[in-house]
Amino acid sequence: MTWFYDPRRSYEDNYAHGPFGPLASDAGDVPGPPADASFLGHRVVRPFGIPAGPLVNAAFAAAAFRHGFDVNVYKTVRTRAWPSHPFPNALAVHVDGDLAAGRPEPLLADADLDDATSISNSFGVPSRDPDAWQPDMAAAIAAAGDGQLLVGSFQGTHPPAGTGDRETAYVADHVAAARLVAETGAPVLEMNLSCPNEGTGALLCFDAPQVARIAGAVKDAVGDVPLLLKLAYFGDDASLARLVDATAGIVDGYAAVNTLPARLVDREGRPALPGEGRETAGVCGDAIRWAGLEMTARLARLRERDGRGFAIVGVGGVLTATHYRAYRAAGADAVMSATGAMIDAGLGAAVRAVPA
Ligand SMILES: Cc1cc2nc3c(=O)[nH]c(=O)nc-3n(C[C@H](O)[C@H](O)[C@H](O)COP(=O)(O)O)c2cc1C
Repeated sequence: MTWFYDPRRSYEDNYAHGPFGPLASDAGDVPGPPADASFLGHRVVRPFGIPAGPLVNAAFAAAAFRHGFDVNVYKTVRTRAWPSHPFPNALAVHVDGDLAAGRPEPLLADADLDDATSISNSFGVPSRDPDAWQPDMAAAIAAAGDGQLLVGSFQGTHPPAGTGDRETAYVADHVAAARLVAETGAPVLEMNLSCPNEGTGALLCFDAPQVARIAGAVKDAVGDVPLLLKLAYFGDDASLARLVDATAGIVDGYAAVNTLPARLVDREGRPALPGEGRETAGVCGDAIRWAGLEMTARLARLRERDGRGFAIVGVGGVLTATHYRAYRAAGADAVMSATGAMIDAGLGAAVRAVPA
């Protein structure tokens, strides 16, 4: 089966010619129950769709909407053009059962994607220039049908080494990115704080005071547009509580989880992905569902503890409508699937067939 984002092709090839496979075909008749669910104040058919990543432009987003994915995220953008890591980016990752967080032993990764349910994700968050992605994001927003919603994802870019006050410039770049996304008319924003390919030790989401500073500046700039924070897996409750305590009064919700980092090797034990800094890459799909469910449940407990009203977007390893229900039961207000949707373009229709 060809995936709609085809890992056998380069990022640029996908961007120019995708989507592929069943998602590229006419959707036919995707049963559409009444849009009686709600997410962040928007009426939706089902609070389910595709998270930041596989929907690289408006053609992909429009196809996802047509096929019954109702809440979709446009791939993370930056304030400037940024190249993708070299091909390959998504390899099959052979992991037996759950992928433990912080696993020291390497995992075998290769191009044998036929039966893959867990994959690598090593793109480096490529972006077009805003002159190109702003009109395209606006087209993706316009492609949403009744009861459907597009979320605009962005992240900040570190200024080049040796330039002025880098700290202030980094905050300002997040604000500029958020403004550019808000200008397209995106009804919900998501700030990616969890890119595992930018160095796991330095993940922004683990620096609660810095996140609060950036989120506050972004919220001041975008006003009432709801803002979600995209999180990595937190190893302990105390650090997650610190992040939530510092930001719950500023933002509107949290999306978790991004990929889990792992060392990936080929059959000869060499790094599976070419190039410096890619020995460790993010892994997503079946093997990380436990992490997404755990983060969802922990966020739900923090919400309950303090009587807060933030939204939770559950992400990670959703391959079936049953997994969707499990996330909803754990406290997710919306659920998203990247790897599962790439494997099965019918997942949106399957979720529409079960209770919201
Ligand atoms: C091809 C691909 C590209 C991705 N790119 C991004 C990205 O640009 N920004 C982001 O926040 N997450 C990105 N992700 C991570 C997903 O949004 C999601 O958090 C992760 O894949 C876990 O979900 P899954 O198990 O359903 O794949 C990407 C994932 C995939 C598969």
